[in-house]
Amino acid sequence: MQLSIGFWSFKTLASAYELGLFARLSGTDGHTVDELARMLGVGQRPAELLVTACASIGLLELRNGRYVNSAVADEFLVPGKAYHFGGWVQMLDRRLYPAWGRLSEAVRTNRPTSWNPDEQAHLFDSEDPELLALFWEAMHSLSTLTARELAAHVELSGSAALLDVGGGSGAYDIELCRRYPHLRATVLDLPPVCEIAAEKIKAAGHADRIAVAPGDFLADPELPAGHDVVLLSMIMHDWSDEQDLAILRKCFAALPPGGQIVISELLVDEEKAGPPAAALMGLNMLVETTGGRNYTAAEYEQWLRATGFVDVRTVSFEAAGANGAVLARKP
Ligand SMILES: C[S@@+](CC[C@H](N)C(=O)[O-])C[C@H]1O[C@@H](n2cnc3c(N)ncnc32)[C@H](O)[C@@H]1O
Repeated sequence: MQLSIGFWSFKTLASAYELGLFARLSGTDGHTVDELARMLGVGQRPAELLVTACASIGLLELRNGRYVNSAVADEFLVPGKAYHFGGWVQMLDRRLYPAWGRLSEAVRTNRPTSWNPDEQAHLFDSEDPELLALFWEAMHSLSTLTARELAAHVELSGSAALLDVGGGSGAYDIELCRRYPHLRATVLDLPPVCEIAAEKIKAAGHADRIAVAPGDFLADPELPAGHDVVLLSMIMHDWSDEQDLAILRKCFAALPPGGQIVISELLVDEEKAGPPAAALMGLNMLVETTGGRNYTAAEYEQWLRATGFVDVRTVSFEAAGANGAVLARKP
């Protein structure tokens, strides 16, 4: 039953977020159903059903007949808060929920359903403004949280300059520069994405330490030099084995001797039976890409050694967008 009604919980969360319920309740002593119905401009019956459902799945609590945000809703579902996660919820609701509605088609045809491969070359080959706004806002939500955990498990105090390959909104760079005051970083991404990153970096007050480098890690013959650590977060799962090996070779060439590489991903276990976050993200790559999937730590370790890296190892942690990082060094 829990598996079959999983989407009821998701849609409860997504609709309450879209209606601004958590934003309305934040910083208040709570509201009654009647007050909330008036504030949201909806009827008493749907308001009561929605807040009851939200309370049942831990998003709201009831105190003296008034609904308040639970701690998790208040920290993650209120726009403007440091670890706001609403961008991810919105992207799932508007983009991935309809695409997953056609999952059987994706399985039968081995083609993505979130975009049409007859009309664009790959997932990121789009000027669709809604995609631009949604996708990187979602990644920013997810990656800010993930970067916080990565920073606690991967030692970068000996590194001076980080190249974030496919760095997206710059969430990792902002979070890592917060943690390591000596670190500089460069976000390499496609030109329209670099504009999004530049805004986020400016808003975070780190424009003096984080640069953007518009580029194409598939088409460009080489990556920018001058960095002693390269980060690949949620990049490898978008592409096929051959494409990933080509990206790793460019990373190797861009690093100086002694330079480090960090692959941050939701790693599938060696038996290919879980964990759910990584396995389901893998299936999401069927819906979203033509050749990507979530790989195991052993697969990355083997590719890194084949590329020439040494001291290859994997560290495990638990975060929204990664459960581990595969690390290695250029000899
Ligand atoms: C899944 S997102 C990950 C973003 C970021 N690393 C993070 O973890 O938040 C993949 C990123 O790769 C970028 N990307 C895709 N193809 C690229 C290419 N050929 N060259 C540069 N960046 C690319 C996308 O624009 C997007 O920002």
